This record gives sequence, C-alpha cells and structure tokens, in this order.
Amino acid sequence: MSAPATARLLPGKPVADEILADVATRSAALRARGITPSLATLLVGDDDASAGYIRIKQQQAAALGFASPHEHLPASATQAEVQRVITTWNDDPAVHGMLVQYPIPGHLDYNAALQSMDPDKDVDGLHPVNMGRLALGIPGPLPCTPAGIEALLAYYDIPVAGREVVILGRGATLGRPLAMLLAQKRPTADAAVTVVHTGVKDWARYTRRADILIAAAGVPGIIQPEHVKPGAVVVGGGVRYEGRRILPDVDESCAAVAGAITPRVGGVGPTTVAMLFRNVVTAAERANP
Ligand SMILES: NC(=O)c1ccc[n+]([C@@H]2O[C@H](COP(=O)([O-])OP(=O)(O)OC[C@H]3O[C@@H](n4cnc5c(N)ncnc54)[C@H](OP(=O)(O)O)[C@@H]3O)[C@@H](O)[C@H]2O)c1
Repeated sequence: MSAPATARLLPGKPVADEILADVATRSAALRARGITPSLATLLVGDDDASAGYIRIKQQQAAALGFASPHEHLPASATQAEVQRVITTWNDDPAVHGMLVQYPIPGHLDYNAALQSMDPDKDVDGLHPVNMGRLALGIPGPLPCTPAGIEALLAYYDIPVAGREVVILGRGATLGRPLAMLLAQKRPTADAAVTVVHTGVKDWARYTRRADILIAAAGVPGIIQPEHVKPGAVVVGGGVRYEGRRILPDVDESCAAVAGAITPRVGGVGPTTVAMLFRNVVTAAERANP
C-alpha cells in the first residue's frame, strides 16, 4: 500500500530570512549616511504576551541596526496620553515607523490611535491612507501579513498571475488588503481573486476550485480537506490564540490533499514580522531620499 500523499511544506522562515537580509543591507547603507532607521513602539498596560512581542521586535530591531525607542503607559492611561506619544513621534524626524501594540485596554480607541499616526510612519500599513494607497496602487507602507503572503508565494516560485485565488475572510488586517494586493497588475500578483465570508453560505463551492486557497477567518479548523482542490496551494493566515495555544484555520489533514501548504506554526508569522521591518527601512529611505 502506498503512503498517503503529503503536501510540500512552505515554511515562512527562509522567506523572512531573505527579506531581513535585504533590510539589513539597506539599514547599513542608511547608517553609512548618518541615518539610523528607527521603529518606535508603544505598550499600554501590562499584558505579558504583548510585552514579550515588543521585546522580540526590539531584539530584531537591534540586530538590524535600528533604533527602537519605547514608551510604556499604564493600563489606566487616557486616550489623550496615547495621542500625545503618537504626536511626539509624528513630529520627530528621527522616528521612521511606529506601532501601538495590539490589543490595548478596552476603554481606549485603537482605531483613533492608528488614524492619528503620520501614515508614512504606520508600519502596520493599516492606516486608512495606506489602505487607500493600496487600493490605488500608490507606494506606501503595505499591510504586513498580506505583503508577507505575496512574498512567500513568490519565494517558493508558486505562480499567482492568471490563477484562481480564493480568500476565506474579508477582515481589514488580512483578507481585504490581501485581495487588493493579489489583484494588482504585477508579476507576483495579477490573480483572479475571489473573497468569501459569512455572507456566502456555500463558500466551499469557491474554495474547492481555488488554485491558491488562503484562510483568513480566525476560525480554528474551518478549512478541511473537502474544501481543498487536490494539488492546490493552501496558505493558513487565520489563527485564534487560546492562551499560548495557536489554533489555525487550516486543519492539518489538508496536507493529504494540497500540493503545497504552510506549516501549522511558522508559516505567515515570520513573514509578517519581516515585512514590518521592511516597512520601517523603506520609510527611512523615503524620508531621506
Ligand atoms: N499570522 C499573523 O501574523 C496574522 C496577522 C494578522 C491577522 N492574522 C489572523 O488573520 C485572521 C483574520 O484577521 P482579520 O483581522 O482580517 O479578521 P476579522 O476582521 O476577524 O475577519 C475575519 C473574516 O473571516 C470571516 N469568517 C469568520 N467566520 C467565518 C465562517 N464561519 N465562514 C465564513 N467566513 C467566516 C468573516 O466574515 P464576515 O466579514 O462575514 O464576518 C471575516 O470576513 C485572524 O485569525 C487573525 O488572527 C494573523
């Protein structure tokens, strides 16, 4: 009896390593001109996981030769205090990118904080101006997870142009910007993109015909083998966190049907982080032509 077919794995780390090597080269070129790329981070409250994510970003920033100024506000901070930090960084030419670590305490308005950033310094690429730039094909910081997925497909030489891409989920951080990105007229995009969601009850009809299926729902195990066309490429973007456990949208059993698939852990996470740093170095270059 032959062994069950298993899809080729598409880990994100080699992709991220390639992106970060390029970022390091560009960072060194800026530093040689007296410009230190700088990623400012704001943490509000004392959530351990969030503090850990910031520490990892600071370590990575240091490895790339970036400065990483940091502000930590108490959980009781007011919206005005958050805005003051953002305004200071908006006005500081030495700060090229900033992020407010998500989630923030419930009494604060994350979107208001995001919208008060200088769009050129929004390294998550989620400011309304940057979503508008993406829609219009104008250069600007790109949303990190979508940009990382395009880079991952390109790294593994998976053809996208002219092929059928189906995205499950139309959320603002992943599905919606990814649809715009992969429909753009570029060699690593140029796809026929379909977006499905809770409004499309028979969404499996669409996912089953996808050459490239991208899960962006945040519903653990929502993608099962019967939703996948044999031989298709499956990218797992959506995850739910339960404590330290990561519960991905794509059930592992899909590897028996797919031709290629991102691993359960270490798929689009590393490419997302790499894109954040690419956005910072690009912002530093644009601010210092
Ligand atoms: N790995 C990473 O680094 C990374 C980074 C960013 C985001 N993510 C993950 O990506 C996922 C999406 O993020 P987001 O902010 O874009 O999410 P979101 O705003 O919560 O959007 C989720 C989308 O999935 C759809 N959906 C949910 N349940 C569904 C169901 N049962 N059937 C069909 N569609 C369903 C929703 O449809 P409706 O619009 O109809 O409600 C919505 O469009 C999340 O899991 C997030 O954790 C991962």
